[in-house]
Amino acid sequence: MANYELTRQIEGTFSEPEMVRLNGIVSKVPDDGILVEIGCLYGRSSSVIYYAKKPNVQFFTVDIFVGTSRWPADKQYEKLINNMSKFEFYPKIIHGNSEMASSHFEDQSIDLLFIDANHEEEFVTTDIKTFLPKMKKGSTISGHDWGFPSVQAALKSCFPNSDIKLQQGTSIWEIIIE
Ligand SMILES: C[S@@+](CC[C@H](N)C(=O)[O-])C[C@H]1O[C@@H](n2cnc3c(N)ncnc32)[C@H](O)[C@@H]1O
Repeated sequence: MANYELTRQIEGTFSEPEMVRLNGIVSKVPDDGILVEIGCLYGRSSSVIYYAKKPNVQFFTVDIFVGTSRWPADKQYEKLINNMSKFEFYPKIIHGNSEMASSHFEDQSIDLLFIDANHEEEFVTTDIKTFLPKMKKGSTISGHDWGFPSVQAALKSCFPNSDIKLQQGTSIWEIIIE
Protein backbone atom coordinates (compact mmCIF):
# COMPACT_ATOMS: atom_id res chain seq x y z
CA MET A 1 0.00 0.00 0.00
CA ALA A 2 1.26 3.51 -0.88
CA ASN A 3 3.23 5.29 1.83
CA TYR A 4 4.09 8.72 0.41
CA GLU A 5 5.01 10.04 3.87
CA LEU A 6 7.92 7.60 3.82
CA THR A 7 8.90 8.29 0.18
CA ARG A 8 9.03 12.06 0.80
CA GLN A 9 11.93 11.48 3.20
CA ILE A 10 14.12 10.01 0.41
CA GLU A 11 16.08 12.58 -1.65
CA GLY A 12 15.01 12.88 -5.28
CA THR A 13 12.82 14.88 -7.62
CA PHE A 14 9.76 12.64 -7.86
CA SER A 15 6.76 14.84 -6.95
CA GLU A 16 3.67 13.70 -5.05
CA PRO A 17 1.40 13.68 -8.18
CA GLU A 18 4.10 11.54 -9.85
CA MET A 19 4.11 9.14 -6.89
CA VAL A 20 0.33 8.77 -7.25
CA ARG A 21 0.63 8.22 -11.02
CA LEU A 22 3.42 5.63 -10.63
CA ASN A 23 1.42 3.90 -7.91
CA GLY A 24 -1.48 3.53 -10.37
CA ILE A 25 0.74 2.14 -13.15
CA VAL A 26 2.48 -0.38 -10.83
CA SER A 27 -0.74 -1.58 -9.22
CA LYS A 28 -1.89 -2.95 -12.63
CA VAL A 29 1.00 -5.47 -12.78
CA PRO A 30 -0.38 -8.99 -12.10
CA ASP A 31 0.73 -10.86 -8.99
CA ASP A 32 3.04 -13.26 -10.86
CA GLY A 33 4.55 -10.36 -12.84
CA ILE A 34 8.04 -8.95 -13.36
CA LEU A 35 8.80 -5.28 -12.99
CA VAL A 36 12.10 -3.56 -13.84
CA GLU A 37 13.18 0.00 -13.00
CA ILE A 38 16.24 1.60 -14.64
CA GLY A 39 17.69 4.37 -12.45
CA CYS A 40 16.96 4.24 -8.72
CA LEU A 41 19.36 6.88 -7.29
CA TYR A 42 18.61 6.75 -3.52
CA GLY A 43 15.36 4.82 -3.93
CA ARG A 44 12.65 7.50 -4.06
CA SER A 45 10.74 6.00 -7.03
CA SER A 46 11.79 2.47 -5.99
CA SER A 47 10.01 2.89 -2.66
CA VAL A 48 6.81 3.93 -4.47
CA ILE A 49 7.08 0.88 -6.71
CA TYR A 50 7.79 -1.48 -3.83
CA TYR A 51 4.79 -0.31 -1.82
CA ALA A 52 2.46 -0.27 -4.86
CA LYS A 53 3.27 -3.71 -6.23
CA LYS A 54 1.36 -6.88 -5.45
CA PRO A 55 3.26 -9.14 -3.01
CA ASN A 56 4.55 -11.73 -5.48
CA VAL A 57 5.61 -9.33 -8.23
CA GLN A 58 9.39 -9.61 -8.75
CA PHE A 59 10.92 -6.13 -8.65
CA PHE A 60 14.41 -5.42 -10.04
CA THR A 61 16.14 -2.06 -10.09
CA VAL A 62 19.07 -1.39 -12.45
CA ASP A 63 21.70 1.33 -11.84
CA ILE A 64 25.33 2.06 -12.63
CA PHE A 65 25.58 4.32 -9.55
CA VAL A 66 27.02 7.43 -11.21
CA GLY A 67 24.56 9.87 -9.59
CA THR A 68 23.22 12.87 -11.51
CA SER A 69 24.32 16.48 -12.02
CA ARG A 70 22.24 17.39 -8.97
CA TRP A 71 22.67 14.29 -6.80
CA PRO A 72 26.25 13.09 -6.21
CA ALA A 73 27.43 9.57 -6.96
CA ASP A 74 29.54 9.62 -3.81
CA LYS A 75 28.04 7.00 -1.48
CA GLN A 76 24.97 6.58 -3.74
CA TYR A 77 24.92 2.81 -3.25
CA GLU A 78 25.41 3.09 0.53
CA LYS A 79 22.61 5.68 0.74
CA LEU A 80 20.31 3.40 -1.25
CA ILE A 81 21.05 0.44 1.03
CA ASN A 82 20.54 2.59 4.14
CA ASN A 83 17.22 3.90 2.81
CA MET A 84 16.08 0.37 1.92
CA SER A 85 16.70 -0.81 5.44
CA LYS A 86 15.34 2.34 7.13
CA PHE A 87 12.16 2.51 5.02
CA GLU A 88 11.79 -1.22 4.40
CA PHE A 89 11.64 -1.53 0.62
CA TYR A 90 13.58 -4.32 -1.03
CA PRO A 91 14.10 -4.32 -4.82
CA LYS A 92 16.59 -6.79 -6.26
CA ILE A 93 19.50 -4.56 -7.32
CA ILE A 94 21.24 -5.15 -10.67
CA HIS A 95 24.49 -3.16 -10.76
CA GLY A 96 24.99 -2.33 -14.45
CA ASN A 97 23.49 -0.62 -17.49
CA SER A 98 20.43 -1.72 -19.44
CA GLU A 99 22.46 -3.79 -21.94
CA MET A 100 24.03 -5.84 -19.16
CA ALA A 101 20.80 -6.03 -17.12
CA SER A 102 18.54 -7.13 -19.96
CA SER A 103 20.44 -10.44 -20.23
CA HIS A 104 18.94 -11.43 -16.84
CA PHE A 105 15.48 -11.69 -18.40
CA GLU A 106 13.76 -14.10 -20.79
CA ASP A 107 12.20 -12.72 -23.96
CA GLN A 108 8.59 -11.56 -23.46
CA SER A 109 8.77 -11.91 -19.67
CA ILE A 110 8.48 -8.34 -18.30
CA ASP A 111 5.17 -6.66 -17.41
CA LEU A 112 6.42 -3.15 -16.61
CA LEU A 113 9.66 -1.31 -17.41
CA PHE A 114 10.12 2.08 -15.71
CA ILE A 115 12.94 4.23 -17.15
CA ASP A 116 14.49 7.06 -15.11
CA ALA A 117 18.24 6.84 -15.82
CA ASN A 118 20.36 8.94 -18.21
CA HIS A 119 17.90 11.22 -20.08
CA GLU A 120 20.09 11.84 -23.13
CA GLU A 121 18.44 10.60 -26.33
CA GLU A 122 21.01 7.89 -27.09
CA PHE A 123 20.71 6.38 -23.57
CA VAL A 124 16.90 6.43 -23.49
CA THR A 125 16.93 4.82 -26.95
CA THR A 126 19.33 2.11 -25.75
CA ASP A 127 17.25 1.45 -22.63
CA ILE A 128 14.14 0.99 -24.79
CA LYS A 129 15.73 -1.03 -27.59
CA THR A 130 17.57 -3.45 -25.29
CA PHE A 131 14.49 -4.16 -23.19
CA LEU A 132 11.85 -4.17 -25.96
CA PRO A 133 12.29 -7.92 -26.82
CA LYS A 134 11.95 -8.70 -23.09
CA MET A 135 8.52 -7.06 -22.82
CA LYS A 136 5.30 -9.14 -22.84
CA LYS A 137 2.58 -8.31 -25.36
CA GLY A 138 0.26 -5.79 -23.70
CA SER A 139 2.93 -4.77 -21.18
CA THR A 140 3.87 -1.18 -20.32
CA ILE A 141 7.02 0.88 -20.74
CA SER A 142 6.86 4.04 -18.68
CA GLY A 143 9.33 6.61 -17.44
CA HIS A 144 10.06 9.94 -15.82
CA ASP A 145 10.93 13.37 -17.21
CA TRP A 146 8.87 13.71 -20.40
CA GLY A 147 9.80 17.40 -20.12
CA PHE A 148 13.30 16.67 -21.47
CA PRO A 149 13.32 17.22 -25.29
CA SER A 150 15.87 14.37 -25.49
CA VAL A 151 13.41 11.97 -23.81
CA GLN A 152 10.63 13.06 -26.20
CA ALA A 153 12.94 12.61 -29.22
CA ALA A 154 13.92 9.08 -28.16
CA LEU A 155 10.30 8.05 -27.57
CA LYS A 156 9.02 9.52 -30.82
CA SER A 157 11.73 7.76 -32.80
CA CYS A 158 11.34 4.38 -31.02
CA PHE A 159 7.51 4.50 -31.10
CA PRO A 160 6.50 6.61 -34.12
CA ASN A 161 3.01 5.08 -34.27
CA SER A 162 2.23 4.55 -30.59
CA ASP A 163 0.00 6.58 -28.35
CA ILE A 164 2.18 8.11 -25.62
CA LYS A 165 0.01 8.65 -22.54
CA LEU A 166 0.78 11.69 -20.40
CA GLN A 167 -0.98 13.12 -17.39
CA GLN A 168 -1.17 16.83 -16.74
CA GLY A 169 0.83 17.89 -13.70
CA THR A 170 3.31 15.02 -13.94
CA SER A 171 6.23 14.23 -16.23
CA ILE A 172 5.47 10.52 -16.36
CA TRP A 173 4.97 8.98 -19.80
CA GLU A 174 3.46 5.59 -20.58
CA ILE A 175 3.27 3.36 -23.68
CA ILE A 176 1.48 0.04 -24.11
CA ILE A 177 3.57 -2.51 -26.03
CA GLU A 178 1.49 -4.25 -28.70
C1 LIG B 1 17.33 10.71 -12.32
S1 LIG B 1 18.24 9.57 -11.33
C2 LIG B 1 17.01 8.42 -10.81
C3 LIG B 1 16.03 9.01 -9.86
C4 LIG B 1 15.20 8.01 -9.11
N1 LIG B 1 14.33 7.27 -10.01
C5 LIG B 1 14.41 8.68 -8.01
O1 LIG B 1 13.20 8.55 -7.95
O2 LIG B 1 15.02 9.38 -7.20
C6 LIG B 1 19.14 8.70 -12.54
C7 LIG B 1 19.86 7.45 -12.06
O3 LIG B 1 20.27 6.72 -13.21
C8 LIG B 1 21.54 6.18 -13.00
N2 LIG B 1 22.12 6.01 -14.36
C9 LIG B 1 22.69 6.93 -15.16
N3 LIG B 1 23.04 6.39 -16.33
C10 LIG B 1 22.67 5.08 -16.29
C11 LIG B 1 22.74 3.99 -17.19
N4 LIG B 1 23.27 4.12 -18.42
N5 LIG B 1 22.27 2.79 -16.79
C12 LIG B 1 21.71 2.63 -15.56
N6 LIG B 1 21.61 3.62 -14.66
C13 LIG B 1 22.08 4.83 -15.01
C14 LIG B 1 22.27 7.15 -12.10
O4 LIG B 1 23.26 6.51 -11.35
C15 LIG B 1 21.10 7.67 -11.23
O5 LIG B 1 21.00 6.90 -10.05
